[in-house]
Amino acid sequence: MVITKQHIVSWLQRCAEVFTEQRDFLTQLDSDIGDGDHGLNMNRGFNKVLEKLPSVADKDIGFILKNTGMTLLSSVGGASGPLFGTFFIRAAQSTNAKQSLDLPALCQMLKEGAEGVVMRGKAEPGDKTMCDVWLPVVDELELARQGELEMLEALRHGVDRAQRALEATITMQARKGRASYLGERSIGHQDPGATSVMLMIEALYQVASRE
Ligand SMILES: Nc1ncnc2c1ncn2[C@@H]1O[C@H](COP(=O)(O)OP(=O)(O)OP(=O)(O)O)[C@@H](O)[C@H]1O
Ligand SMILES: [Mg+2]
Repeated sequence: MVITKQHIVSWLQRCAEVFTEQRDFLTQLDSDIGDGDHGLNMNRGFNKVLEKLPSVADKDIGFILKNTGMTLLSSVGGASGPLFGTFFIRAAQSTNAKQSLDLPALCQMLKEGAEGVVMRGKAEPGDKTMCDVWLPVVDELELARQGELEMLEALRHGVDRAQRALEATITMQARKGRASYLGERSIGHQDPGATSVMLMIEALYQVASRE
């Protein structure tokens, strides 16, 4: 199977649902090591994305992703708004004019998106940020691509890896963003931004495995 434009639209709709369902949980995570706004930020951002979807749903994947990035950039705020915005804007580049993505194309899209987040936020692996889930997921999908796994199987591996990578943020000490002000006290808490990335990967698997 391939990821179609309709899958991408459904993915963004599912993200909006998930960030509504998980708003309070994410905000709780961010209260532990930040300022308690992450769930609200993501919920606001993806509600705006949802609102704008009907006006872009007939365009190509690159256009939809770019529009999503610009919407997140202007509505999420905080540290994570520009970072998620950058993810989608960069992910849009290789998907420009495309109506569907095979596994190599999906890998490329996620890889360029994640590289954009690293360039913008300058986080290193282990800094306890969203990059600690983005990068392992990209690695895992790259392995799946090399092993010529089927799309759904590849995404399932991606979700498993995202969940393990997310759990690994618990024992990390934050070195970027607001949580870094806590120093060692940031250890023992799951990173909110990394949690959002895991939820987005899970949402992609869910919409791909529907039907
Ligand atoms: N430099 C960075 N690189 C990658 N991710 C980062 C960076 N700084 C913060 N993050 C991610 O952003 C998440 C926090 O997002 P949130 O929406 O709560 O913004 P914020 O920290 O409250 O922003 P601000 O302090 O600017 O208001 C963290 O959990 C982390 O995953
Ligand atoms: Mg916050």
